[in-house]
This record gives sequence, structure tokens and C-alpha cells, in this order.
Amino acid sequence: MSVRACIMGHPVAHSRSPLLHGHWLETLRIDGAYDRVDLASEAFADFFRALRRHGYAGGNVTIPYKEAAFRLVDRREPAAAAIGAVNTVWYDSDVLVGDNTDWLGMIASLDAIHPGWDASAERVAVLGAGGAARAAAYGFLSRQLDVAIVNRTRGRAQQIADQFGPKISVHERKDLPSVLATADVLLNATSLGMAGQEPLDLDLAPLKRDAIVYDIVYVPLATALLKAARARGHRVVDGLSMLLYQAVPGFARWFGVTPTVTPELRALVAADIVRPEKAEAR
Ligand code: ATR
Repeated sequence: MSVRACIMGHPVAHSRSPLLHGHWLETLRIDGAYDRVDLASEAFADFFRALRRHGYAGGNVTIPYKEAAFRLVDRREPAAAAIGAVNTVWYDSDVLVGDNTDWLGMIASLDAIHPGWDASAERVAVLGAGGAARAAAYGFLSRQLDVAIVNRTRGRAQQIADQFGPKISVHERKDLPSVLATADVLLNATSLGMAGQEPLDLDLAPLKRDAIVYDIVYVPLATALLKAARARGHRVVDGLSMLLYQAVPGFARWFGVTPTVTPELRALVAADIVRPEKAEAR
């Protein structure tokens, strides 16, 4: 019997999840489907709670419903409970279970692209204090790293520190040079640098040469931050890597096979990101 999953959000037209899950379904020869479901805010809760009645074994939740999904599930996996947002759901018998795989997307991509990256790492610098930053904090704490957060709104960073404990520290933007100087990984978890948003204005000069620079922004694929980091010889990870790796556990839940992130998959999704960029440049 064909198994179906979907991505729920608003808007979802630009989501790359159908492309990447579709590639796995095809290459693994699985009889299944992964749909886009665009839901207006009034419609989300009813649809989400009745996912199975709509023919779905589970799915992903994206902007702006990750917090609503967190509230609406029957059960939360530990990561979702800690991060306060749900991006992946499935059924355990009749119980709708919610998890957050964004943190795993970050950690698994680092493990795959820079094996041993955390062997001598002690401290990471996270820019931002939204959902992505919470996921990052959770992920880095799972590797026993100290996390220094810098955010425009200090209170949001402080909330993360209050919840996650003493390994999290909160810093002002003016203290960035010293934060960067002691960081083994710098991760941008803000929306700055994303196409259509303000640029992330950051001087990388204080950063240690062997620090890894990670940007969760993936449109454009090569952000100004990543370009500057590459020019200085840093190891980097881009937001596309996070997108690909966060998708693995959901696929495994719904379709019963653990898929692999391959260069072929990366090229497929990268081409889909670069295409509209090129069209706009014309
Ligand atoms: P998400 O849940 O996807 O992480 P979010 O909760 O909207 O999204 O968080 C976006 C992050 O980008 C926040 O850290 C936000 O800073 P604030 O907490 O101060 O709002 C940051 N951000 C967005 N626009 C910004 C800007 N112009 N300058 C500085 N930080 C910005």
C-alpha cells in the first residue's frame, strides 16, 4: 500500500522537501508520495490533528507552524520538548508523535562533512535566538560543548540560557570579537544574509583559523558569510547540508528505510536553489 507524507506550512511553494524526499522515494523504489500542503492559519490545527484521516502517515511542519505543532501533538520526543518546536510527526498506533530534527541536521552534517570536528572543540558561537538557535544549542549541548549566544534581542538568548543551563552564555554584539576568538564553530542561526533580508555584517578577523563556519541560510547557497569564511581558509558547512540531513529521520519513520545524503541528491537540490537565483540575476 502506498505510504504518503507531506510538508505543512504557509507558504510551502518554495519548500525543497518534496524534491528531496521524492528523490529518495524514486531511487529507493518505494511506493510512496510526499506532498506539499499549504494551510492558512485557521486551517492548520484541524488538518494537522486529522493527518491520518487525510491519508498521511506523518509529515514535516515548517514556517509558521512549528510551535503550533509542538502544542498540538499527543506526545513529544525529548528534542522537541526541549526545543519547543516540532518539525517532524508520525503515528505510534493512534498517538501523533512530534520530534525536532533540526538539531540533528546540524550535528549529522558536521559529522559527515568534517569528521572529528568536535574531538577538540570546546565552545561554539551561535548568532540568533529563534527556533533554529534553540535547535543548535540543543545539538551542541548533546556534544558537551559550551555555547555562546549573541542575539539582537538579549532576552530571547537569556531564555535559552535559563532553560538549558550553565553551558550556555549570553553576550552582547559588541563582545563579538572576543566570542569569535574563542569559538571552534561559528553558526549563523539568524535569517540575516538570506535573499531578501538584510546582510549579516560580521568581521571574521578574530576567528581562529581552524574554526568551522556554519550558515543555516541556504538561499543563496553561498552566503556572504560562507564566501568570507572560505576566503580566509575556514572549513564551512552550508544550510543546504542541514536541510538534507534533517530530512533523514522523518523519511525513515514514514517509509521504513533510512535514506542516504548523496552528492547526487545535493546537486539536485542545489540546482533547484540556484535556478531562481540565476533567473533573478538576468
Ligand atoms: P527561526 O525560528 O527560524 O530561527 P526566528 O524565531 O524569527 O526564526 O529567529 C530569527 C533570528 O534572526 C532571531 O534571532 C532574530 O533576532 P531577534 O530575536 O532579535 O528578533 C534574528 N534577526 C532577524 N532579523 C534580524 C535583524 N535585522 N538584525 C538582527 N537579528 C535579526
